[in-house]
Amino acid sequence: MNSPLGPERRVSGVSASIAPLIGNTPMIALRFMPEEVTIYAKCEFLNPSGSIKDRFARAVVEDAESRGLLRPGSIILECSSGNTGVALAMMGASRGYRVQIAISEKASCERRHLIRQLGGEVILFPAGGYRTGIDLTREMAAKDQRYFLPRQFENPLNSRDHEESTGAEILRQAPGPVAAFVTGYGTGGTLSGVSRALRRANSRTRIYAMEPAEAALLLGEAPCSHFIEGVADGFIPKLLDGAPIDGAIKIPSAAAMEMTQRLTREFGLLVGTSSGANVAAALRVAKELGRDATVVTLLCDRAERYFSTPLFTRVSPVSGVCELKAAG
Ligand SMILES: Cc1ncc(COP(=O)(O)O)c(C=O)c1O
Repeated sequence: MNSPLGPERRVSGVSASIAPLIGNTPMIALRFMPEEVTIYAKCEFLNPSGSIKDRFARAVVEDAESRGLLRPGSIILECSSGNTGVALAMMGASRGYRVQIAISEKASCERRHLIRQLGGEVILFPAGGYRTGIDLTREMAAKDQRYFLPRQFENPLNSRDHEESTGAEILRQAPGPVAAFVTGYGTGGTLSGVSRALRRANSRTRIYAMEPAEAALLLGEAPCSHFIEGVADGFIPKLLDGAPIDGAIKIPSAAAMEMTQRLTREFGLLVGTSSGANVAAALRVAKELGRDATVVTLLCDRAERYFSTPLFTRVSPVSGVCELKAAG
């Protein structure tokens, strides 16, 4: 804030703070052989805190500051599966706000470490009890006026920001008319916002939701546990209401992890499990639409927040203890 460059500006390649470094992520063309198919993937893992959630964190903080809802002494309080918590903790550190994150016990411990390392406070709630986490934050906010709730699951700013930033960037970067866009959903902000932008530009763009095969809610199936963190939290989010979705593609957790490893080994992309799931779903769509179709997806976060998850570990049949998977 006290930068000689002035408030929150990026001038001649020098940024006054972290916020201007969010977004405008590169798009990478992934040429799959032997499939002979190219997928265009937006590198959201290159956002400063390591995930696509930096976009919402910046949007909600800047919006709340401009409306006087966030001021010195405010505390940012949010229920998150982790990435939003890390992103808000980063924004809080940069702007001087206290940040408290209600996070599920099942979220990878790397996320908790990152939130704490950024000075945020972690409030754990039981796995599967997402509503519990949201209710908890509401009760806390009702009792203390210092709290500001970003409310990522219902805040229309979440999808609006993706419409104006992520969606607009895809339209600028894609090498041709976007034939299809494929991604998973957590809050639904990305899928609904980006699909609105793409459809406005081209009514023929097909929109597909990636769903874990174990929790294909849009296909009317009951949710079971899965290993694709950041998506499908056990309910269809409000922000997907009215989103122009043409279909859902089921990706099993094992296939997501396999594709994530392929992205790392064949393309050098250190990304998380949902990125593998997104690309696996996009590949299926691209094979159907034909080689020349421009199919776009997102690489949502970094591999380093999954060291403790089955992407990097296996349960030893002898000890029952998680061990690091042998390389190669
Ligand atoms: C790790 C991760 N974070 C965030 C998102 C997007 O979530 P949301 O629906 O909340 O915008 C995804 C979607 O694929 C994801 O995989």
